[in-house]
Amino acid sequence: MPRPDEPGSHASPPAAPPGLRRRVHELLESSPGVDSAGGLVTLAIVVLILLNAVAFTAETVPEIGGRYARLFALFDAVSVAIFTAEYALRLWSSAEALGYNHLPAWRARLLYALRPLMLVDLAVILPFYLAFLIGIDLRVLRVLRLFRFLKIARYSHALQTLGRVIVNERRALAGALLLMLTLLLLSSTGMYFLEREAQPNTFGSVPQAAWWGLATLTTIGYGDAVPVTALGKLFGGIVMIVGVGMFAVPIAILATGFSQEAARHQFLVTWSMVARVPLFAQLDAAAVARVMQLLHSKSVLAGTYIVRAGEEGDAMYFIASGEAAVETGDEPVILTEGDFFGEMSLVYDRPRSHTVTARTNCRLLVLDRGDFERLCHHHPEIRQHIRRVADERLNMGSRQPPRKTA
Ligand code: CMP
Repeated sequence: MPRPDEPGSHASPPAAPPGLRRRVHELLESSPGVDSAGGLVTLAIVVLILLNAVAFTAETVPEIGGRYARLFALFDAVSVAIFTAEYALRLWSSAEALGYNHLPAWRARLLYALRPLMLVDLAVILPFYLAFLIGIDLRVLRVLRLFRFLKIARYSHALQTLGRVIVNERRALAGALLLMLTLLLLSSTGMYFLEREAQPNTFGSVPQAAWWGLATLTTIGYGDAVPVTALGKLFGGIVMIVGVGMFAVPIAILATGFSQEAARHQFLVTWSMVARVPLFAQLDAAAVARVMQLLHSKSVLAGTYIVRAGEEGDAMYFIASGEAAVETGDEPVILTEGDFFGEMSLVYDRPRSHTVTARTNCRLLVLDRGDFERLCHHHPEIRQHIRRVADERLNMGSRQPPRKTA
């Protein structure tokens, strides 16, 4: 049904079917393994990005670039056309994105267009069109094509994690950078005073000596600039020892940040977490401990699809913290801490009835299908309760859903 802000809700221009817009959004935003058609779209875009990187590199080899110039130009034009279509579809369907779907469509698109990954997508296609308008130098245009490779960040969890780690650890990294610069300045100045007379061409100024400082402190040691005086060698030795420790600091900060980020996604399922779920509240301590062994953890970021309507259901979920939205009709049903979802597929043995999305960052307790059967076998009262909730939700499907379920 079109929303009031949509043109389709008035007489004039007919809006595209909202189902189509929603499907396009799902296809473009799905992660591999969740939606097979969406996975194919993702794969096709990633392959195109990689081919662009290969073409960019190959074109700089004079024999290849010269001989296949027309082929490269054609590939470039086709790539830009595909990336433009992808950008336009992303923008058009962004009115369906979680967190944006309550806004007027034009506002949702404007805000969505300002998201960092959308700006990268725009930077990929813009130079091509600007070249027509203002005539950018071909060499600059060629360098700007490197932006295309940045698009891969959308599909690489590792790059996104690295980005988050750098943002999280920015203060510690800035502190380490300041220390490194101080050390570089001190070592270069020291070496300048000790070596400038013996080697005026290599250590004649502090910036010149800084080349030696950088190569030494980073342990690269090109060997093109080396101290020759006894004092210079002694000082150089001290700088080497200090440098090894100092330049390892940012690496240690990043490594710690990575492991903390990984821990955020996998948390320990604790006794109290399970006991807080109302469904398990009636169990004695030993039974809670047994349930704990069946559950595993999963953290999802706000806006992520947790289950999708139509796909096979292989698990049900309990919310340990955060909020999830069951996308039923116009108004989503909001589930919060202690609630569960995904049980209908397991109870009725059929595909997911609705899409469920994380409204905030969520910590979920996951019960796989096999463990669900095991749990129900040992605790028929739990099976009854889950079945009752599933039946209620099934009935609600034909009526107006409430804002919140127990
Ligand atoms: P399942 O069909 O496996 O996947 C989607 C889930 O959404 C479904 O199980 C239920 O857990 C949940 N769900 C469906 N309808 C409602 C509703 N009206 N209220 C709350 N949750 C629901």
